[in-house]
Amino acid sequence: MDLWRKKSVGKLLAERKENKRGLVRTLGTADLVALGVGAVIGTGIFVLTGVAAANYAGPGVVFSFIISGIAAGLAAMVYAELAAAIPSAGSAYTFSYISMGEVVAWLVGWNLILEYLVAAGAVSIGWSSYVMDLLRSLGLTLPATYTASPFDGGIINLPAVLIVLLVTGLIITGTQHSATANKIIVVIKLAAIALFIALGIQHIDPANWKPLLPYGIAGVFHGAAIVFFAYIGFDAVATASEEVKNPQKDLPRGIILTLIISTTLYVVVAGILTAMVNYTALNTASPVATALLRVGIPWASAVVSVGALAGLTSVLLVSMYGQSRIFFAMARDNLLPPIFDWLHPRLKTPVWDSIIIGILVAAIGAFLPIGLVAQLANIGTLTAFIAVSFGAIILRKTHPELPRPFRLPLMPLIPILTIISAAYLVFNLPPVTWVRFAVWVGIGILVYAFYGYKKNNLAGNVETRYSTSDASEAARKPIPPRENQ
Ligand code: ALA
Repeated sequence: MDLWRKKSVGKLLAERKENKRGLVRTLGTADLVALGVGAVIGTGIFVLTGVAAANYAGPGVVFSFIISGIAAGLAAMVYAELAAAIPSAGSAYTFSYISMGEVVAWLVGWNLILEYLVAAGAVSIGWSSYVMDLLRSLGLTLPATYTASPFDGGIINLPAVLIVLLVTGLIITGTQHSATANKIIVVIKLAAIALFIALGIQHIDPANWKPLLPYGIAGVFHGAAIVFFAYIGFDAVATASEEVKNPQKDLPRGIILTLIISTTLYVVVAGILTAMVNYTALNTASPVATALLRVGIPWASAVVSVGALAGLTSVLLVSMYGQSRIFFAMARDNLLPPIFDWLHPRLKTPVWDSIIIGILVAAIGAFLPIGLVAQLANIGTLTAFIAVSFGAIILRKTHPELPRPFRLPLMPLIPILTIISAAYLVFNLPPVTWVRFAVWVGIGILVYAFYGYKKNNLAGNVETRYSTSDASEAARKPIPPRENQ
């Protein structure tokens, strides 16, 4: 049994050069930043800021955002080096396959399901809360039976199901349509945040920052582990790499710019929010709208709620898109059934992936509570960061010749700092989340043992679907930009 068999970089790049059934290259840097900001800014800032301030960190939630922003920023640099060197759909999954072998790659891919699919479920629940709030402000209250999960006193959360099905339909129509829709939504979301900042700054009362750390330093770190959710998604930029026109330049730029924009906005919004109202008043599913209401600007509260809904929709769009590309990459390696790498002949998208993902995300949104779901997404993402950082260190040793258009300085300092900071945030999550995560990993190991291990094309018992004749040459040459244009 060879659980550590690796995919060769040459084979991977050859697959990309020769694969006639590949995805179409349509995306540039602006698309990637829109994709990144679209994926990142959502539930974390619009929903979890209030929960984290009220229950964990108080006004110190500003520091929580800085701490988890540092962890995400370190990881972003590691992803930037790997994504530019290995621009293949699948992101962390593919990096792990090359550097650490099949079993680690499978587990990383399995955890990315938490990051993308489960996070999308959390976002659909957040979307539902904002719609309910908005309808309530218009005097319309829908019955909890059909608008909340069984854990929150209902039977099914139908608004969450509805938005997931709408987004699934959009994703199926093609990457270019989704990218255009995403850009429009991102502009609306940023405009809503700008409106909040412009109005909120006029209503700050420094007295609300006293005490600054009501739950102490420990509260700030617990808050950081919760608001880490706000940073999930920047690596969706890397999952799109096979659809990027000029991956070597565009990917590092897309990833790092996304992180800079998001961190800046989070720190500013969290600072203003906790200065506008006392942190104890922020324990609501729509803290940004609540703060504007409290300072007496109801029209702005409604406008920002609509912008938040747009923002949450784009997060859903990109998370579900990213998940479909990860399933696509895993199926291409025969770790998932072939249905997952089937591309629609006309639309050129993995349609079945999108449909299956839509059903699973809708089920999570319909029947589970947001807290449980968001924390699972955090632990799945943090463990992927740890695996990818080990992968970056190993790849520098095993493949020093690989072209690295974006090269990390002071290697291996940044991956090591990423591992330490991600592990520290995992440690700050509630222990019940560790237990749920262990169960998830256990299920993943069983699925691998009974499906992926036997089927995998590297095992030689399944016909490989790509030619690898030009592998060594492909490994030496950087991938030309716009090759599929
Ligand atoms: N970062 C994304 C959000 O906050 C998942 O909604």
